[in-house]
Amino acid sequence: MTFPGAIPTLTDGPVTLRAHRPSDVERSVEQSVDAESVRWTTVPTPYSLDDARDYIGSRARAWLEDTEWPFAVEVDRRFGGSVELRNEGPGRAEVAFGSHPDIRGTGAMERALRLLLAWGFEARSLTTVIWWAHAGNWASRKLAWKVGFSFDGCVRQWLPQRGEMRDAWVGTLLASEPLQPREAWEIAADR
Ligand SMILES: CC(C)(COP(=O)(O)OP(=O)(O)OC[C@H]1O[C@@H](n2cnc3c(N)ncnc32)[C@H](O)[C@@H]1OP(=O)(O)O)[C@@H](O)C(=O)NCCC(=O)NCCS
Repeated sequence: MTFPGAIPTLTDGPVTLRAHRPSDVERSVEQSVDAESVRWTTVPTPYSLDDARDYIGSRARAWLEDTEWPFAVEVDRRFGGSVELRNEGPGRAEVAFGSHPDIRGTGAMERALRLLLAWGFEARSLTTVIWWAHAGNWASRKLAWKVGFSFDGCVRQWLPQRGEMRDAWVGTLLASEPLQPREAWEIAADR
């Protein structure tokens, strides 16, 4: 594997997934200081340009070491966030995602996840993808629902965040399942 040469570029037209680039750093900082990113992820706070440079560098290493398969999300020729699959061993991966505030609510992340998941099932022969989110992260839960994840419940004090353990929502998506909601949101949100 060479970086970025061997990293696939995936596109559906409006949204493109590609390798991270040094020029993503400034918008990566904007994303990482956003209140929703701070609230629901483990992003360092405060967050500097050097943190973003380290993050972009770590994306290349992840591909080289085959531990994660991260992509930058490009919308209108601008960096719009990141999506990735974390390699959990043969057939298994964890999905992770976060968007720049200015692409939220546009459907771009839904498109990005469809591209990512289809690639993972096909190119990495995944059988099961798991989604974790801090309990209460409804934007994440709704996005996972849109692309077909089940909601499998809440695991108490499971996700570490800045020195504390947070309750975690969990769901799964299998290779045999369509990347579409499996039931109405009103039912899914009530589980
Ligand atoms: C999670 C994230 C990528 C989702 O992006 P997105 O799909 O563009 O969605 P939005 O942030 O605009 O929120 C979308 C949906 O969640 C719904 N939502 C948000 N907060 C909600 C709440 N408290 N209760 C119910 N629904 C809620 C919105 O109504 C919206 O639904 P709609 O698309 O049907 O109109 C984005 O919010 C983000 O980057 N958040 C910060 C980082 C993060 O949480 N990453 C995931 C970690 S597991």
